Order: sequence, then structure tokens, then C-alpha cells
Amino acid sequence: MRLIIDTDTAGDDAFSILLALKAPQVTLEAITICNGNVDFLQQAENALYTLEVAGAGGKVPVYLGCPRPMLRKPVDATEFFGEDGMSDAGFPKARQRPEPDHAVDRIIDLVMSNPGEIEIIAQAPLTNIAAAYVKEPRIAQALKHLWVMGGTDNALGNTTPASEFNFYCDPEAAKIVVNAGFALTLSTWTLTMTSGLLPDPALRRIEAMDTALSRFFLRISQAPFKRTAMRYGRPLSTHPDSLTCACAIDPSVMLEAADCLVDVETQGELTRAYSSVCTPLTPAEAEIDKLWYADPPNARVIRRADTDRFAEMLIAALAD
Ligand code: BDR
Ligand code: CA
Repeated sequence: MRLIIDTDTAGDDAFSILLALKAPQVTLEAITICNGNVDFLQQAENALYTLEVAGAGGKVPVYLGCPRPMLRKPVDATEFFGEDGMSDAGFPKARQRPEPDHAVDRIIDLVMSNPGEIEIIAQAPLTNIAAAYVKEPRIAQALKHLWVMGGTDNALGNTTPASEFNFYCDPEAAKIVVNAGFALTLSTWTLTMTSGLLPDPALRRIEAMDTALSRFFLRISQAPFKRTAMRYGRPLSTHPDSLTCACAIDPSVMLEAADCLVDVETQGELTRAYSSVCTPLTPAEAEIDKLWYADPPNARVIRRADTDRFAEMLIAALAD
């Protein structure tokens, strides 16, 4: 699998990178940085440090993409991940530096020169992917698969009641991307809450491992632990991006999925960035009903994933 990870690296973005690095069937061709969780350049430092701590410093190029969303004023998630996105760990700068090319151009080059070969995990706001599509619309057909972490499955969001963080940060980009015609799988915040919480026994095993990567995992999980304890009454290890990566690199992790018609609200006062997910009508229903929801599906929405299998993959990735 030839993979690009588009990321606003903080917290579990880093675990997703580790999963991809440790999977023998994956060639991680590039990491591209998008606006999102914390300060834009700090996110690049976090990605570079993650590579270094995994022993992959200098092996995967990192490109800077769009430092701000299309229309919305930038928002961040420092209150969840800490100012640096890594629970204020104060990690040193990695030796590897970002590449000079722009991430959007690199995405286009890689996809267009390898049609049907490249897959992207988009685990940040969708600004980079939307910009790449607007600049070179043919990437929608040339890309093998787009795995998006974003939105909800008509359910409670994590940023507003109606919206999930990645879609909330750049709703216009999300709307462009889901309507662009990519072969697309959507991993929602709803899925995170049902299948992407690391079980306590798995967390205990990670605590007992005492490897460089298990210590890294636990260090950068501290701020999310504190914040989830305030909200949910106990610390949670939430894995939106890492679960998405697990599904991409081992599709057997997906236990249930449905082809749906997905769109993104960009106008609503209370519902801006809401992702509308409609299970398609049967052909007989579609004959009768000509409304928008009779359009063909544009995304496969993951409904249930194998949490135990995911936990085993994560634990294996944290070994020395
Ligand atoms: C998503 O938002 C970010 O804070 C996480 O990295 C993840 O990509 C979850 O809503
Ligand atoms: Ca992310």
C-alpha cells in the first residue's frame, strides 16, 4: 500500500503515523501537514519528532500545506491536546526538517504520476485535499482511495452538538471533498465513540511495556486523559485518527460499513459543519422519490470496527 498521511499532528495523529510506519505492507510516501489541532508549524515539529522517536527520522518526507482554512477563522484544539499538541511534553526538535515543496503540489504530483496507486488518510481538516482537488480535479479519479476521519454519523459532535472538529475547522473544504467523486471511506467521531476507545486492559498493557514508544504514547496522552476525565467522568484514550489508519492498513478491522450519501452543512447557525449521512434508497424507492437523497452514494461510512484487533495493532506498533 502506497500511502500519504495528511495530518494536523497532535495526540492520536501521532499514533496513526506510528501504525503506518510499523505496518510492513505500507510504504509511507509522504506526511503532509494541514491546519487544525495546534499551531501550524508546531504540528510539523510533532510529525518530525514522531518519525524520529520511531527510528524513521529522514525516511519519510514531511511537507507543509495550508496553514489556514478556506473561509472560517482558524480554530484549534489546544485545550484538548496542550499548547504543543503533545500534552506540553517539551520534546526537542527533530533533526529532519520539512521539505521545500508545498504539500498540495506534492499530493498532486504523487497521485497524478501514480494513477490508481496512492491512498490518502486525511486525518485533519480537509483544506489540503480540497485545495489539491481544486487545483487538479483529476486527482479524484487518479487516487486509489481516500480515508477521511471527520464528521459524525448524524450524531453528537465533539466540537459543537452538531459537528466534529475536522469538519468544523473547515466546513467548506469538507463539502468540496465529499462531493468531489473520490473513492472515499468515512470514519466518523460516532465510530470513535463506539469502536475507537482503547479498552482499559490494553492501556494497562501499554503502561507495563516500558518501551520508547509506549512512554511516548503515555506522555502525549496526558492532556487528553485530563480533558476526557472532565467531560466523561473518567480518562479515555480516544482514537479517531489511529482507528482510521488501522482500517486503512487492515480493512478486516472494519466490521460493518454502508454506502451512503454524505454532505456537509456550511450555512447553518447551529448546524454549520454538520455531516448529513443518508443510507441510500432502494432502487424501487428511488424510482418514486426524486429528491436529493435519491442520488447515488458518495461514501462508505464505517459503522462498527474491531476494537480488540485495533488495540492489538496499536500495542504491536508500540513495541521496540
Ligand atoms: C479529530 O480532530 C482532531 O482533534 C483529532 O486529531 C482528530 O483528527 C477528531 O475529531
Ligand atoms: Ca487529526
